[in-house]
Amino acid sequence: MNAEESDHIGKKFLEKTRPDQLSQPDQQKNVPPPPRSWDLTPKKTYDLPAPEEIDLPEAHLLETIDSRRSKRSFTEKPLSNEDLSILLYYTQGIQRELSGEISLRTVPSAGARHAFETMIYLDKATSLPRGIYHYQAEDHSLGLILSGNFQKEAVRAGLGQNHLAEAAAVFFWVADSYRMEWRYSERAFRYLHLDAGHVCQNLYLAAEALDAGVCAIAAYDDDYANKLLNLDGQDNFVIYMAALGFRKN
Ligand SMILES: Cc1cc2nc3c(=O)[nH]c(=O)nc-3n(C[C@H](O)[C@H](O)[C@H](O)COP(=O)(O)O)c2cc1C
Repeated sequence: MNAEESDHIGKKFLEKTRPDQLSQPDQQKNVPPPPRSWDLTPKKTYDLPAPEEIDLPEAHLLETIDSRRSKRSFTEKPLSNEDLSILLYYTQGIQRELSGEISLRTVPSAGARHAFETMIYLDKATSLPRGIYHYQAEDHSLGLILSGNFQKEAVRAGLGQNHLAEAAAVFFWVADSYRMEWRYSERAFRYLHLDAGHVCQNLYLAAEALDAGVCAIAAYDDDYANKLLNLDGQDNFVIYMAALGFRKN
């Protein structure tokens, strides 16, 4: 390995996050765990219908996996509260408590740490005003954080990807890294990125069942996206995005 290779940030990251390189995590020092979700004190909270009260679309799992495709062109059709309930429940919904601090959700997560918050820019919805929302997983509701049209900002966050302007909703998954670091110290940063993939895949599949479409977005402007969502970019940061809408083809 030459000097340049040993300085490679990606390789360094893998090296420094090997099990024998890690510092002792706070959990092992008996530091109490951080809260398992955020309260952002929204302007207004909108309850979503519980998934068990919704007539779920019929979808065969293996066929759904097989027909999934990334979509970058969307119709004007808005999302209903039922659609939003399904999309949010199947990506980050809490299914049950394992113990006081630990919940099980519709996606796996390393150590069940579930270190994400979901923020959505809702552009087209039947009953909710345009704006940036926080998914309040604990009570399956959406909290309105910023009202208004943020189409331009969503496109800019996605480095000019124009399909973000057509989307009915733009998902921003936000990592609260200490929630994962508390148990796994530096290795948490591997797990955060692995966890994010599961969440976005579930969004693809849930959307497919609704005849909607998704495009995963990892090409985004970190600083701009973090600023838009009022995140410090250090302990809390956008880890993944997705554009979602009813598909044209
Ligand atoms: C981690 C990841 C990041 C991606 N980022 C983008 C992106 O920023 N913009 C985009 O248009 N597509 C993005 N995609 C979608 C891929 O381009 C797409 O999955 C790929 O072309 C294969 O097509 P398929 O999803 O229809 O199978 C991303 C996909 C993944 C898994």
